[in-house]
Amino acid sequence: MPPDPYLQTTGLCRHYRRGPTVVKALDGVTMAVGRGEYLGIVGSSGSGKTTLLNLLAGLDTPTSGSVSLGDVPLTAMSRRELAAYRARCVGMVFQSFNLIAHATALQNVEMALLFNGTPPRERRRRASAILERLGLADRMTHHPADLSGGEQQRVAVARAIVKKPEILFADEPTGNLDFENALEIASLLDTLNKEGLAIVLVTHNLEMAQQYTQRTIRMQYGVILQAGQPGSAGAPHP
Ligand SMILES: Nc1ncnc2c1ncn2[C@@H]1O[C@H](COP(=O)(O)OP(=O)(O)OP(=O)(O)O)[C@@H](O)[C@H]1O
Ligand SMILES: [Mg+2]
Repeated sequence: MPPDPYLQTTGLCRHYRRGPTVVKALDGVTMAVGRGEYLGIVGSSGSGKTTLLNLLAGLDTPTSGSVSLGDVPLTAMSRRELAAYRARCVGMVFQSFNLIAHATALQNVEMALLFNGTPPRERRRRASAILERLGLADRMTHHPADLSGGEQQRVAVARAIVKKPEILFADEPTGNLDFENALEIASLLDTLNKEGLAIVLVTHNLEMAQQYTQRTIRMQYGVILQAGQPGSAGAPHP
């Protein structure tokens, strides 16, 4: 466990009831993300990675157990406090992008700055700058349907980081990218982490996790394997 946790979970469970069966998407996860840490989460499909990110980001509510910001459980926060956590502190790159279909790439990124008091011209300047950095200077007026999968993914990354959050949850942010663009995003995340951004990176690519993150957690069937023991996958990478 990191010495100065930014977020921590205790016995976190998320069970889905489907008729007579219960899917235990998460089943007792205790973990933490340090302030400014770059944490990797790997695990096979269906192991509960996206479910965990959604709970950490305050987008979903646990069946039992807790997620705490510092020592305040998210469930103890008022609606306003929780909304402020999501709007100011959290950046999220969704596995399925979740871009607004009727807005252009530039508008999608600008939207992330709509609720934190950034003036319109500054919104446009910052959104354009980040899209340029991600190689999308000539795609700003395209709508998501007129972008390739990899381009949509880069717009989703731009939207998540443009507001300078404290923590970024990135769910397979390079899953649809060729090697060159994946490298560009990986090194951008690396730079942002060195500037103080905490990152939780979900990936199927163990090699990428070990290369870029400081520590990797492995998940299987809704639980964490080998968390944080010296020499295990949860220990800091050498
Ligand atoms: N709304 C839901 N209702 C029922 N079961 C669900 C629901 N959402 C997720 N699950 C189940 O919970 C489990 C964990 O899902 P989750 O999306 O967290 O997996 P994942 O590790 O992100 O997988 P992938 O690598 O394929 O994205 C899966 O078995 C999934 O089918
Ligand atoms: Mg997933």
